[in-house]
Amino acid sequence: MNKSSYPRIPLSLRTSLNLSSYYTAPDHKNADSPFPATKIWKDRPALLASALAREVRNPLTNINLSIEMIQSLITDKELQPFVDIIVRGSARINHLINELLQCQNIEEVLAGEYSLHQLLDEALAGMEDRITLKKIKVTKEYATQDDTICVDTGKVGFALANILNNAIEAMSYKEGELTLTTRSIGNKYALEIQDNGIGISNEDLKNIFKPYFTNKPGGMGLGLSTTLEILQYNHIDIDVSSERGLGTCFILFINKA
Ligand SMILES: Nc1ncnc2c1ncn2[C@@H]1O[C@H](COP(=O)(O)OP(=O)(O)OP(=O)(O)O)[C@@H](O)[C@H]1O
Ligand SMILES: [Mg+2]
Repeated sequence: MNKSSYPRIPLSLRTSLNLSSYYTAPDHKNADSPFPATKIWKDRPALLASALAREVRNPLTNINLSIEMIQSLITDKELQPFVDIIVRGSARINHLINELLQCQNIEEVLAGEYSLHQLLDEALAGMEDRITLKKIKVTKEYATQDDTICVDTGKVGFALANILNNAIEAMSYKEGELTLTTRSIGNKYALEIQDNGIGISNEDLKNIFKPYFTNKPGGMGLGLSTTLEILQYNHIDIDVSSERGLGTCFILFINKA
């Protein structure tokens, strides 16, 4: 495909990483490969994520019980929107934990036909509060009407949420612009998730899909490694282009149903 058809970042400035070539060789031994070279890398994050998900459930239950109490006592109407954000946020965490636990079994693909745009909108809806609080401008350019894909919607939705989450985290308050574009290309749909955040250096770009690679204080560095595995099992290819200071673009190539 002609890459010049999708950049918003000027081509001359972008650094780019194409992961498609790693899909056919999961046991790739090349030291530069962003794909986990050993099985240890694949298993340890799964165990850690599972333990973490289970541990988070207990304090989350306490938060839910406490917020129910606060809700019944609250009289100041100005506080209500903040309580609503906590309620939605903890429901979201609960949902993500359930998905994370389901994702332990990444290789099991429960594929079904679904609308690509609906899946994307649902992933975006899960980020609504963060988008609103950060005053991020979202633009949708859904160029294709026929948008049926056949994937494991739970897991691919989780993968999309990871990519969107990173985009939101990379953008500045009031300055963020998130653009979601879909296109029909032959027997595939191209889905482009473009942000105007801090961008990724050429050096870091080689590492972002490796487990535990993170540049964030408190980051786990597990979002994209899990995402890559999910996409791989659902036969979805991914390209990433980025430029420090300008932003990042993830492009997914998804088979039509
Ligand atoms: N859209 C983006 N813009 C800038 N940097 C990004 C973007 N997406 C990913 N990154 C970089 O890739 C790194 C790895 O991302 P990944 O989602 O795997 O882990 P994380 O976000 O650091 O932690 P978590 O496990 O909580 O998701 C991030 O720390 C960040 O440096
Ligand atoms: Mg992340």
